[in-house]
Amino acid sequence: MSAFKDNLLAGKTAFVAGGTSGINLGIAKRYAELGAKVAVAGRNAEKAANAAAEIGRGAIGLSCDVRDYGQIRGALEEAAGQLGPLDIVVSGAAGNFVAPALGMSANGFKTVVDIDLNGTFNVFRACYDLLNRPGASLIAITAGQAVNPAMMQAHVCAAKAGINQLIRVLAMEWGPAGVRVNGISPGPIAGTEGMARLSPTPESDRAITARIPLRRFGEVGEVAESAVFLVSSSAAYVSGTILDCDGGSQLGDARDRDIGGGMS
Ligand code: NAP
Ligand code: COA
Repeated sequence: MSAFKDNLLAGKTAFVAGGTSGINLGIAKRYAELGAKVAVAGRNAEKAANAAAEIGRGAIGLSCDVRDYGQIRGALEEAAGQLGPLDIVVSGAAGNFVAPALGMSANGFKTVVDIDLNGTFNVFRACYDLLNRPGASLIAITAGQAVNPAMMQAHVCAAKAGINQLIRVLAMEWGPAGVRVNGISPGPIAGTEGMARLSPTPESDRAITARIPLRRFGEVGEVAESAVFLVSSSAAYVSGTILDCDGGSQLGDARDRDIGGGMS
């Protein structure tokens, strides 16, 4: 159940890069429910249009590749032109596949770094002069791989680690203009493309949840609530932080251990 009021984001404009499916679509939907005017963007134009229709409330769906600065700048200009100066920008576009470094070509590694890290720079750099400043709030979607190395994830670990530092640098550089820059690091989230790739079977799902302190996958809506908090006035003094919305996953392996005396 949400702690936020229904009109919390009335009068705000939000742009969600990668907001045409999964976690980012959940964030865009929640922003719209709370009264924001919303634009979502992804590569596939039909998927973007369908996402906008699913969000409703006048949301617009735009097609662009975040790897191409001109394309993302064009989408941001279109959104600001139709909806007004941007109060909220979320950079969540990402790519992932499971492969060892030796099973990854240079282009495979570069592709993920280009989408996740360079794409986040492009989104934030391109949106800056379209922001409603002071007061604008930016969020990058990162992941636990930024902090905890994971085999078969060299590209994602490198890209998301870069995003974490980019968040902090931009928070320092843009804070004086009244722009807050934060990150959200979701844990394993049920029903998403990301988890379908990382955990393809019920057995792998069980192995993952057994290690999570809260013993379950997260929900898209739970990440969306974190994304509401960070852009709300309740987080007015929060900048340069990365909010783990992950059931404690990043703390380490919390599997039951038979050490006697009980753990909980
Ligand atoms: P998803 O459904 O695959 O969403 C990815 C979004 O990015 C889609 O809208 C996709 O649309 C868009 N996209 C991909 N490449 C793009 C590009 N080059 N340019 C523009 N848009 C692009 O993924 P998800 O699993 O919900 O993950 C969303 C975010 O959460 C990602 O940043 C991911 O790293 C992070 N995350 C996810 C989990 C999880 O459990 N799923 C855990 C930790 C972190 P198109 O394909 O049409 O471009
Ligand atoms: N193992 C090893 N290499 C792989 C791979 C895999 N499973 N999948 C793709 N690659 C390599 C390709 O072979 C290619 O390298 P090459 O030119 O040397 O052969 C490179 O990655 C780029 O692949 P391509 O399919 O041309 O990239 P794309 O830009 O069309 O798609 C991806 C990007 C690969 C990340 C694709 O999976 C995607 O679009 N993902 C978005 C959705 C997603 O990943 N969601 C989860 C977010 S956490």
